[in-house]
Amino acid sequence: MDKVLITGGAGFIGSNFVLHMSRAYPSSRLVVLDKLTYAGNLENLKSLAEGKNYKFVKGDINDSALVDRLFAEESIDTVVNFAAESHVDRSILGPRDFVETNILGTFTLLEAARKHWLDAGRAEGKRFLHVSTDEVYGSLGATGLFTEETAYSPNSPYAASKASSDHLVRAYCHTYGLPAVTTNCSNNYGPYQFPEKLIPLMVINALKGKPLPVYGDGQNVRDWLFVEDHCRAIELVLKEGRLGETYNVGGRNEKKNIDIVKLICALVDERAQGDKELRNEFPFEGSRSSLIHFVKDRPGHDRRYAIDCTKMEKELGWTPGHLFEEGIRKTVNWYMDNRQWWERIISGQYTEYYSLQYGGRLAGQ
Ligand code: NAD
Ligand code: DAU
Repeated sequence: MDKVLITGGAGFIGSNFVLHMSRAYPSSRLVVLDKLTYAGNLENLKSLAEGKNYKFVKGDINDSALVDRLFAEESIDTVVNFAAESHVDRSILGPRDFVETNILGTFTLLEAARKHWLDAGRAEGKRFLHVSTDEVYGSLGATGLFTEETAYSPNSPYAASKASSDHLVRAYCHTYGLPAVTTNCSNNYGPYQFPEKLIPLMVINALKGKPLPVYGDGQNVRDWLFVEDHCRAIELVLKEGRLGETYNVGGRNEKKNIDIVKLICALVDERAQGDKELRNEFPFEGSRSSLIHFVKDRPGHDRRYAIDCTKMEKELGWTPGHLFEEGIRKTVNWYMDNRQWWERIISGQYTEYYSLQYGGRLAGQ
């Protein structure tokens, strides 16, 4: 892990991972390749100085000439592929970008690794880690957990594109012997998450006294993991994961959406109550849970996800470190303390998506 190419490193999980790695491996060189789509934000990485240990490159993982050049010039020995279109709702509104980035982009990276590592006879010590999702497994009923053996059954265009990229990684391991490994993780939450995903959206709208749109009956279940715990899992798989394997990463923390939203309301109420500045800037009478309203369901909305992470625990000694109550409080406080970060995002350029998706009901409208 001397020369690490981190794709999508300006996004939510990618930037948390870059910051984690720069602390954990201060002498490694981290090369971040990111297209800076709506979801990429260089502000997330502003604490890092360009130089010997860190370089940022604005570019597309589909740009094979650029990817080739980075592999060659930087002598990349490790790839961690976060770059993706990641929002299920957007994949329903417009799936093309998901096919292009998630499938073809991963293919482009795999081809570069094949050329620069395998064909050049330099595969020893190299590692390609593909970051994927539990959504590839489809939806669970009331019981059961996704294991690494669960058959793929993706339901949204996003999930199908990630499933496809996972299959490509698998095929490159099996056919060419590419030193690769895949992680399939559950829902992450924490600092720097783009504010149209459930948790930051609800925190921001609750603070601003805007409606809190819960899809369907609010009984859908997700398995939530604090983003730092995901970053530690990826680091461990990079160091000790067996090549050709897949590892499920999850929080053992199933929550119904409606319960998460109610908890966020209570935490925002509590914080605003004890904070004069917030109280003055965002006055609100009563409990913010009165802002909750049920809206039309997401088409094809998966009912329940839950990860069995026994393999991570037994093989690599990983466990999710944060209790949800601790992680969600930390997260709510982060969004309260970093208002400029999200105010800049929601203040203009995303209006089009918001109006398309929610008929203009959300923050920033
Ligand atoms: P995100 O949307 O916050 O960030 C994605 C990043 O990729 C952005 O910085 C964006 O600019 C960049 N990007 C997009 N297209 C690109 C391209 N063609 N070339 C280069 N860069 C490009 O996503 P996230 O939530 O941080 O997710 C990161 C990865 O983790 C994704 O692969 C996602 O599928 C996976 N994942 C996410 C979660 C979750 O809960 N967020 C859970 C499991 C797995
Ligand atoms: O499971 C892992 C996946 O988690 C990742 O692969 C995806 O990249 C990531 O975006 C996330 O997908 P979800 O669809 O689960 O996340 P989202 O935050 O969009 O929604 C979480 C749940 O909340 C889901 O059941 C839909 C619901 N929801 C979401 C929004 C944005 C609402 O009820 N209201 C909303 O406004």
